[in-house]
Amino acid sequence: MTSTKVLPYSEAAVAEAARLILAGEPVAVATETVYGLAADATNAAAVARIYQAKGRPEFNPLIVHVPDLAAAERIGVFDDRARALAAAHWPGPLTLVLPLRERSGIAAIVTAGLPTIGLRVPAHPAMQALLRAVGRPLAAPSANASGSISPSRAEHVLKSLGGQIPLILDSGPTPQGLESTIVAPGPGGLRLLRLGPVPVDAGLEERERIEAPGQLARHYAPSKPLRLDAIDAAPDEYWIGFGGMIGEVSLSPSGDLAEAAARLFDLLHQAEASAKPRIAVAPVPDQGLGAAINDRLRRAAAR
Ligand code: TXA
Ligand code: MG
Repeated sequence: MTSTKVLPYSEAAVAEAARLILAGEPVAVATETVYGLAADATNAAAVARIYQAKGRPEFNPLIVHVPDLAAAERIGVFDDRARALAAAHWPGPLTLVLPLRERSGIAAIVTAGLPTIGLRVPAHPAMQALLRAVGRPLAAPSANASGSISPSRAEHVLKSLGGQIPLILDSGPTPQGLESTIVAPGPGGLRLLRLGPVPVDAGLEERERIEAPGQLARHYAPSKPLRLDAIDAAPDEYWIGFGGMIGEVSLSPSGDLAEAAARLFDLLHQAEASAKPRIAVAPVPDQGLGAAINDRLRRAAAR
């Protein structure tokens, strides 16, 4: 057991986090999507500490975060299409899966031996400041114990990984709340590996989720049964509403999908902590961000 410090985001806290990371420790930090558990991507032992802290049963490839496109180009091989996607969406919640450059310096444990790498330039000031303070690429999966709900607040990280990691940089709730969109641009077109905050033109997509090994059906799972498309709720169900369906709490009373995405994991954490043994969620329209929200909800409901 380690004692876990929670420090509000500040210059001094970032310096402390950078010091820990350069010493081979993983640190939790906010991104615009969810909190990540970041470690030096060039240090295999440090990355192994991520798996250890999360209790991941097997090595899934991790997303590597870099401060800008130039840093990304030193690690992945970009073609014109990849560069155009990066120009349009970085910094932001888009992960590009690209061929891994030789002598990139990235530890093999990060890609789980794959010849490709997931790269992302995050927009959040906390992760940006940490990247610049460390001066190395940071591997960072979501900062939760394997198989449980992703963290959109420092409290969620503490509940899930307290005692396993030395430091959480607390920047308050994350603005987007859903993990990044993952795409693999390739000669055969653009493959969408995970739905997320960046809408990907439906005409371009061909889903082969299985290629993102972390995308097992049951992944974002609360510890209680969850019922979807609930237009009412039984007395023993914690009802999460949306729009006109009020519920005990609501993803967004006004039916705003961006608000719903930002609140989703927080409300799932609340439902999990409630006294009710089951969870019901009101229908969410399947358009735009709603498709990404429903993707997470279906995974949470699968068992
Ligand atoms: O928003 C996010 O992406 C957050 C923040 C912290 O950046 N990170 C995140 O990481 O969600 P994680 O580890 O929970 O999910 C990473 C996903 C997994 O499904 C993994 O299999 C996939 O990315 N992935 C990573 N590298 C890959 C690769 N080379 N090929 C295919 N899938 C890859
Ligand atoms: Mg995750």
